[in-house]
Amino acid sequence: MSNKYFENNVVYQIYPRSFKDSNGDGFGDLQGIINKLDYLKDLGVGILWLSPIYKSPDFDNGYDISDYYQIDSKYGTMEDLKLLIQEGKKRNIRIVMDLVVNHTSTEHEWFLKALKGEKEYQDFYYFRKGLNKKPPNNWQGCFTGSAWKYKEEVDLWYLHLFAEEQADLNWHNPEVMKEVKKILNYYLEMGVYGFRCDVINYIYKNSLKDGKKSLYLTGKEHYQNTQGMHDILKELRRDVFDKYDCLVVGETGMITLPTGQAFLDKELDMFFQFEVSSLDFGILPVFHKKIKPQKLINTLIKWQNGITYNTLFFENHDGHRCLNKYVDGLNYHYHGATMLATILMTLKGTPFIYQGQEIGMMDLGVLKEEEINDVAAKYVEKIIKKIPLLNIKKIRRKLVDNMNRDHSRTPMQWTSDTNAGFSKGKPWFKVNPNYLNINVEKEENDNSSVLAFYKQIIQFRKENTCLSLGDIKFDTSHKNIFKYFRTYNDKALEIIINVSSKNIKYKHATKCLLSNYKLLNENILQPYEILIKTI
Ligand code: NOJ
Repeated sequence: MSNKYFENNVVYQIYPRSFKDSNGDGFGDLQGIINKLDYLKDLGVGILWLSPIYKSPDFDNGYDISDYYQIDSKYGTMEDLKLLIQEGKKRNIRIVMDLVVNHTSTEHEWFLKALKGEKEYQDFYYFRKGLNKKPPNNWQGCFTGSAWKYKEEVDLWYLHLFAEEQADLNWHNPEVMKEVKKILNYYLEMGVYGFRCDVINYIYKNSLKDGKKSLYLTGKEHYQNTQGMHDILKELRRDVFDKYDCLVVGETGMITLPTGQAFLDKELDMFFQFEVSSLDFGILPVFHKKIKPQKLINTLIKWQNGITYNTLFFENHDGHRCLNKYVDGLNYHYHGATMLATILMTLKGTPFIYQGQEIGMMDLGVLKEEEINDVAAKYVEKIIKKIPLLNIKKIRRKLVDNMNRDHSRTPMQWTSDTNAGFSKGKPWFKVNPNYLNINVEKEENDNSSVLAFYKQIIQFRKENTCLSLGDIKFDTSHKNIFKYFRTYNDKALEIIINVSSKNIKYKHATKCLLSNYKLLNENILQPYEILIKTI
């Protein structure tokens, strides 16, 4: 057995504001998570990653931190976090925090001091003079529009790669490194198991020169995957992470196999690559197309073969639900969900489940402009309004919906009671009306539910070391069938998955260890059928 805890365990991502409200204020909170620890233990997960719970004005739902040492009051207190760590420990569940250090909130005291003209704090950020009332360079932000905002009080512009309330930190300043090390040590000493590092491959800007004009993210060549960023990660590993038994996972947008593998050289334990989750992007992320099963298979194989060890995920808080994205979840809810669960739990790497995925939660449906909460979707709406060709209500709604991250952020569906049992008060955001059919309580009482399958396959993964530690080999001879072998010592498993919603002719012996169909047909793989066999 490997002694790396994360290799033998499944991670569960919690979006705290939508997980479970314990005090009726409409927001999920830490006490709510504590109350659900037994549910999570029963599900079989060993690590919880919490999206940010620090003090924040919430322009980007917590990814704009105004105090790294305070828990936002809607989530509870530092004492609650300590209690969560303790209670988790009793159940063999470890806690991973989100680390957001590409930027801080513009309400962070460093930024406020900078605005008062304190040079020392201006140097924590990128404050620059503009050119004839224009921003210092032509960079575009990730949420569209210029990446610069003018501040009259100092007659300077500051850089923000995300929303204008998220000012980019200047990692050329050694004080920033010092502060981040302090934050990391503070939480690791408290007993936190590690960090998921937000947009970590964007943190170090090589220069602030104009970028090459591009349809998307002009300027990116100056900050994506820079050597300076690798040096920072190596220093953090050496000076902080190596002193603890901890997990460091990076969110790394737009990377290739070689740039990805480089993170595993004494930097991160693993990272999120987004090629799989961007398979539905057209010429721009705002235009979407259907994902072809074969494309999904090929892309997964590419990353499995190309990277020694990595994360496995189909959902997070930034996208659509996997049942709407990769499969026909409306017509094949159970089989689509269990097929994707099988891929997650049987490929090489550490599986990440996003809250609600284990019961098959789905997208909300197209929202009206006034219903949208997501800051990124609001930016997109604004820009589309300026493009006459696209600014036709129906088209605009669809395009904004493609980018809208609200779908995965709806309250967790616990029961069929009011507000899906999420809160006794008014939930901060709309509950998906399908909660009467899709909820934890109902699925807990049904041994042929998506939840029951998740529990079963997580348990199966734990019992079969070849799934966590074994080698992997792919058989690519059948179209739309994802077939592979996992071997470890003298044990071997064969995994056969129909990734499509069609019957596929495939001769096989029906004897198997696990399937998502009760009745198997030796000549056919049924829609989204999975088979796990011993060999
Ligand atoms: C990635 C996070 O996952 C996302 O929610 C956030 O908007 C951006 N980084 C900016 O922090």
